[in-house]
Amino acid sequence: MGVTEVIGLQWGDEGKGKISNIKSANADVVIRANGGANAGHTVVKDGEKYALHLLPSSIINPNCVSVIAAGVVVDLEILYNEIESLRNRGVQISGHNLKISSRAHVVFPWHKELDQVYEDMRDNPIGTTKRGIGIAYSDKALRVGIRMGDIVSSDTNKIVDLIKASLKPKRALMGDDNTDFDKYRQKFNLYRKYYAEFVCDTEAIVQDAIRNKKNIVIEGAQATGLDIDFGTYPDVTSSSCTASGIAAAAGIGPRDIGDVIGVAKTYTSRVGEGPFPTEQINEIGDKIRELGHEYGTTTGRPRRTGWLDLVWLKYAVKLNSVNRVVFNHADTIGAFDRINLATSYLYDLYGDGEEKRIDFVPEALEKCNPVYLNMPGDWGGIKSLKITEDMTEDEKKKVERAKMFFEFIESYLNDGEKNIRKRKVRILALGWGPGANDIEFLI
Ligand code: IMP
Repeated sequence: MGVTEVIGLQWGDEGKGKISNIKSANADVVIRANGGANAGHTVVKDGEKYALHLLPSSIINPNCVSVIAAGVVVDLEILYNEIESLRNRGVQISGHNLKISSRAHVVFPWHKELDQVYEDMRDNPIGTTKRGIGIAYSDKALRVGIRMGDIVSSDTNKIVDLIKASLKPKRALMGDDNTDFDKYRQKFNLYRKYYAEFVCDTEAIVQDAIRNKKNIVIEGAQATGLDIDFGTYPDVTSSSCTASGIAAAAGIGPRDIGDVIGVAKTYTSRVGEGPFPTEQINEIGDKIRELGHEYGTTTGRPRRTGWLDLVWLKYAVKLNSVNRVVFNHADTIGAFDRINLATSYLYDLYGDGEEKRIDFVPEALEKCNPVYLNMPGDWGGIKSLKITEDMTEDEKKKVERAKMFFEFIESYLNDGEKNIRKRKVRILALGWGPGANDIEFLI
């Protein structure tokens, strides 16, 4: 069966949840491998909505093993609340169906405090989620991090010693030392007992599942544009969000990966700062935001919006070895009479007005201006690429226009390959609305 990955191709919020929920429904093992409580997605089962931050979407299915892998940074309190609130709603969660890697690092309250301190100190703040993600990952890289294995196996005095060592260099930034270690001792005693049933060497479980040809899904968090190496650094998150990165973070080697499903929208959105060549700070961007409901799920912050950037998308497809693409908001973009697609950039490397036309994503993306292809849109009201007998001529024409749009994109992502059988990247599905069932599979 192999391992399927579901990843974001743009700057997050592409609607990965919709497809990963479908894939997870039949999976034996579902893995969350990167990021922390900065992510968020909603799962709907039997009409009930569940908002998740750290748990994989499979948690509502007790027959599936849900894994929080080594690459995740775990906020003990947020995860505790997430588990308990699901249990209160009747979701079965035990050490049988939830496994947390003993290698996953822990996010502590001072990580969140310092996340804010660093943002305040920056001339150009990143607009982080303030969930302590970057600080926790930097502790990991500095080798002063504390892992889930420490939480469940150490005595509380040892954890306090580890914390003291980790806090030592941070004192200058955090001001007075008012850390109440007695309070932490009590908390860690509680967490040690609470997390004991979940924490284990998940890598062994995952490797067993691979050997036994189980159906495994890795749910990516954040997206390629936010990847620490290949995103728009420094306006990125602090983990690797690519297909290879999340596989490595799950303890899975590259030859065990089967399908890589990349999720994108028919336009672009991003929260936080950073370059965005196709951004539309005008009535077009406003229209996309309103029709696509582009407001942050937790904060309500309006998202930045703009046209679909195919140069970026092809870069993301190649970086991630994507073989299947899902486009959400196929309906939203159809509300525009004409649609722009960025197909190359004018790149002014030295800032001397000498622009070069390129069709790849350079490190200095902020120096790129998009060159657009303008295509016909206007397919409002249609919900599928299929033409049926009962359609009016007008509806049939709408479907034809939508088909032409997606056919062009698929060809572009395959470097202009016309023969569908030779295309390595195929559009797997289109999202035609917000509902879990508003998805049309094309292959
Ligand atoms: P951090 O991950 O909290 O450090 O935030 C770094 C950047 O990534 C900020 O611009 C965030 O808004 C963005 N970000 C982090 N997680 C997500 C996500 O799940 N969706 C979209 N943007 C995100």
